[in-house]
Amino acid sequence: MKKLIAALMLLALAVAMSTTMTNAANEGDAKTTTKQVMKRAFKGPLTKKVATGKASDAEKAELLKLFQAMAKNKPPKGDADSWKEKNAALIKAAQAAVSGDADAGAALTKAANCKNCHSQHKPS
Ligand code: HEC
Repeated sequence: MKKLIAALMLLALAVAMSTTMTNAANEGDAKTTTKQVMKRAFKGPLTKKVATGKASDAEKAELLKLFQAMAKNKPPKGDADSWKEKNAALIKAAQAAVSGDADAGAALTKAANCKNCHSQHKPS
C-alpha cells in the first residue's frame, strides 16, 4: 500500500512538473498582441510592401508570422467565427506571398480590409 501511495505521489509530481514546464515554454514564446500586429503589419508599410510585391522574402515570412500570431489572439470584440475567418484569409494570402503566388497581392489587399474588420472586432 505504501508503495502504491509513493508511486501515485511521484506521478502527481511528474504531472505538476510537466505542466510547469509547458507554461514556461509558452511564456518563452512571447505573445504578440493584436495591437502590435496592427502597428507592424498594417499601420507600417509591411502589408503594402508585400501586397505590391516589393517585400523581401524575410518580410513576407514576418508578415505571415504576425498573422499567425494574431489568429491565436481572442478578438477584443465580436464573433469568434468571423475573427477566425478573417485571420484565415490573411494567413492564406501571406502564405501565397511567401510561396511566390502571383495572385497573392490581390488576395492580401482584399483580406487586409481595415474597415471591414474594425467595424466588427475593434472596440471603439
Ligand atoms: C482581421 C481584422 C483586422 C484587420 C484586417 C485590420 N485590423 Fe486594425 N485592429 C483590429 C483589432 C481587433 C483592433 C483592436 C485591437 C485591440 O484593441 O486590442 C485593431 C486596432 C487597430 C489600430 C489601433 C492599435 C492600437 O494600438 O490601439 C490601428 C492603428 C489599426 N488597427 C490599423 C489598421 C489598418 C491601417 C488596417 C488596414 C490596412 C487594419 N488595422 C486592419 C483588427 C483588424
